[in-house]
Amino acid sequence: EIFPDSSTASKLVAHEIATLIKQKQEEGKPCVLGLATGSSPIKVYEELVSLHRSGELSFSNVVTFNLDEYYPMDTGHQQSYYHFMHQHLFDHIDINPENINIPDGTVPLEEMDQYCIDYEMKIKKYGGLDFQLLGIGRTGHIGFNEPGSHPNSGTRIITLDHITRTDASSDFNGLENVPKKAVTMGISTIMKSRRVLLLAWGHKKATVVKQTIEGEITSNIPASFLQEHKNTTIILDSEAASEL
Ligand code: GLP
Repeated sequence: EIFPDSSTASKLVAHEIATLIKQKQEEGKPCVLGLATGSSPIKVYEELVSLHRSGELSFSNVVTFNLDEYYPMDTGHQQSYYHFMHQHLFDHIDINPENINIPDGTVPLEEMDQYCIDYEMKIKKYGGLDFQLLGIGRTGHIGFNEPGSHPNSGTRIITLDHITRTDASSDFNGLENVPKKAVTMGISTIMKSRRVLLLAWGHKKATVVKQTIEGEITSNIPASFLQEHKNTTIILDSEAASEL
């Protein structure tokens, strides 16, 4: 779906999420959301916060699982996804802090395999993701599933692509400060979500958007696996759609 601008699109996305949360509330069930970081979802979070502030939306039944975190990474670091999510969403809504799950960038490496298995198990325990919000990196990554990611991959530690680290370098005040690794949900974790919305804005995403939608399904562009997902919508502004 192509929108003239990202603000209009983000409002619609936020309203789809709000509708799902309310529907689950009426059913007396938790609403399990997979959430993303990066600049793309910021306006969606702004709209969700504003729906909450106006009294229209409660997050009391919401359980969240974030896609990824840099590794190693302290929660207090300005560039941690932990910090990002609290700054843009969690600090402004009525979610139970116990229902917030963000991959932990402080777990010692030797405990990471078990940590990742437990993260997957926790998603399963809640009955899987009802909804997954995604951005896309210029390498075609979703979460931090860089080129080469297998469709069967689950939550794990990965090595970041050089392009991804370069794109993050201004946030970290130089490439040398960007972590070399990250922990991310896998392609199969994302593909099991019952609904997926991928957001892409701006000219810089136009080429990878074309490869994702019109190219072959390949681990060279991990987002292309979404072509096989039954309930995915890719939400674009006109610039991101310009090469389609
Ligand atoms: C990071 C995140 C991705 C995100 C991507 C794009 O690499 N791990 O989940 O999709 O950045 O970021 P932006 O939305 O800022 O373009």
